[in-house]
Amino acid sequence: MGNYATSNPNDVVAQSDEIQYEDRCRLFKQQGLVLWFTGLSGSGKSAIATQVEKRLVNCGRAVYRLDGDNLRQGLNRDLHFSKEDRDENIRRITEVALLFKDAAFITLVSVISPYKQMREFARERIGSEHFREVYVKATLEECIKRDPKGFYKKAISGQIKRFTGISDPYDEPENPDILLDTMTLSVDQCVEQIWRLSCETLK
Ligand code: ADX
Repeated sequence: MGNYATSNPNDVVAQSDEIQYEDRCRLFKQQGLVLWFTGLSGSGKSAIATQVEKRLVNCGRAVYRLDGDNLRQGLNRDLHFSKEDRDENIRRITEVALLFKDAAFITLVSVISPYKQMREFARERIGSEHFREVYVKATLEECIKRDPKGFYKKAISGQIKRFTGISDPYDEPENPDILLDTMTLSVDQCVEQIWRLSCETLK
């Protein structure tokens, strides 16, 4: 204990920056923006975000993609799928996205983010003007049919517990900034819509 007895995260004083957000915006010639892709596993979030990233990078944009599956192998490897852990997962990802936004990056977040309350938290923490909720929509039946990772089969047979859509909830976005229906739109068509949204937002 000793010296640590009085340690408290609230005792930390934030350092002031000499380089400001505006300086970074000038450097990258854009505003920071978080595009938050939410949807069931297998709905197409990562496939779309990956192609959006490619297109934006090819146009010289500063972009970074934060993918739920990938982050769960590092930053969030201690988290599972209880409500508490999913909330903590989203809290951490929100903080990372906020840093990228402050670095004036276009930040593509693809996570199931099943709880409306945590998506609202993300919007509030990042700031509405820098945040767009993208609902990547496919019916549960379609996601079960696609089952790219074989997880739905395992969830239905009970091998995986608390699987979103099967044995755990997904709060459908009621008022997303954009809805991509992957039952009817191709990945390219979805990318086009996001492209237009980011051009409108960044101009
Ligand atoms: S979230 O609910 O906390 O937002 P996140 O997007 O990080 O989830 O991770 C979801 C990914 O973890 C899925 O795409 C799937 O590959 C995997 N996964 C493993 N177990 C589960 C589960 N019980 N529920 C949902 N996804 C799971």
